Amino acid sequence: MSESAGQDFRCPDCGDLLEIIYPQWRESRPDPIGLKSLWRERRTLQEPIDLSGVWRFRELLPALGDDGQAVTLREGNTPVYELPRCAESAGMERLLAKHQGMNPTGSFKDAGMTVAATFAKRAGFRWVACASTGNTSASMAAYAARGGMRSLVLVPEGKISWSKLSQALDYGAVTCQLRTDFDGCLRLLQELVRQAPVYQLNSINPFRLEGQKTLALELLEQLEWEEPDHMIVPGGNLGNSSAIGKALLEMRELGLIGRLPKLSVIQAEGANALVRTLGEGEGKRLVSVQAETRATAIRIGNPASWKKAVNVLMQTGGACEQVTEVEIAQAKAEIGAEGIGCEPASAVTLAGLKKLVKQGFVKRDETVVLVLTGNLLKDPDYTIDFHRGELFRGTKDEQASKALDGLRRPPIALDATLEAVMGALERAEKS
Ligand code: F0G
Repeated sequence: MSESAGQDFRCPDCGDLLEIIYPQWRESRPDPIGLKSLWRERRTLQEPIDLSGVWRFRELLPALGDDGQAVTLREGNTPVYELPRCAESAGMERLLAKHQGMNPTGSFKDAGMTVAATFAKRAGFRWVACASTGNTSASMAAYAARGGMRSLVLVPEGKISWSKLSQALDYGAVTCQLRTDFDGCLRLLQELVRQAPVYQLNSINPFRLEGQKTLALELLEQLEWEEPDHMIVPGGNLGNSSAIGKALLEMRELGLIGRLPKLSVIQAEGANALVRTLGEGEGKRLVSVQAETRATAIRIGNPASWKKAVNVLMQTGGACEQVTEVEIAQAKAEIGAEGIGCEPASAVTLAGLKKLVKQGFVKRDETVVLVLTGNLLKDPDYTIDFHRGELFRGTKDEQASKALDGLRRPPIALDATLEAVMGALERAEKS
């Protein structure tokens, strides 16, 4: 890969995004039983690439160099949690969540970034860059710093959380807040990489998707290779759904699983390009939207990986749904009340599941795994505004959001007396 090569990540003939394939699997097909035991055994080893929950699965990733070195922060290795009360609220017997927010920089992006940063470094790039709604920039800045590269971040001004911005700053990125939205940032980046020797680390970079694939591998390992019936992911730029779908298809091809889970994608109603692409666009042409949602991570109107996402939805038989801002806030508070903190974009999965259950697409006794993509601490303002009753103030949702008052736990300012605190305790006990 030369400095000018591979910057477009599109096929020069058809214009579609490139995808990494492994033709060698045809000649010497990896043995699924051998792979499963190898991956398990690596969990007891201490080399950085074995401690990584991504590189542990390296037989299904692009080959590392002879030195076997990766730019890694021990990403992956994320927990699967039971959500019994959310299950009840959704009308399910059981519900699982794979929490990618427990990655080193707090989002699922780290799984892809370790792979893309490793190859950027190997190709000799001094600079890497991304457009972002926040999480990609936090992750890229961290991995660039670990790999000794400089990083350039383009984010929409005022539309990403301070937490995410602070990460990019702390990890030393050159951070540009542009007066546009995410889609505008991505467009500009694509122009920039044609002129400057800067390597693009958005999810149109196929190395990113290879790393993000491992979420599904690790999940299946955690489930003792028993396929769930459904996986549900939030959809923004649609890289993650594409990556997970690719992993499921590859796992089936290699005989690691026998049955494909249905992969469903949920979007915010105000950023529903995939929903409309499948509806009005009949899955054949992208229907872009002017995106607006408080779940800023998925405030994306022109998703780059839409074709790949349509393809994996078709191949796995998954659904695509949209949810309202009030439904997102409710779902986030319900997940939080189980002791699991996630960001609003992640909570669309539970809100969407409720709809899919009502429609009969998901059956009560089926196994469902929600993919929680980001940590609660990524966007504390949203949570604080919700609990203080300020999230929907002055918006068209103000009235509808009153139904969520019972979920709110605002902070209580009191005099520092035993009496005052006892009073608060008693009131809470009665409520
Ligand atoms: N959830 C979170 C927390 C995200 O940060 C993103 C995307 C998504 C879901 C959607 O994933 O784009 O692969 O469909 N965040 C990007 C960013 C775009 O710049 O951090 P997707």
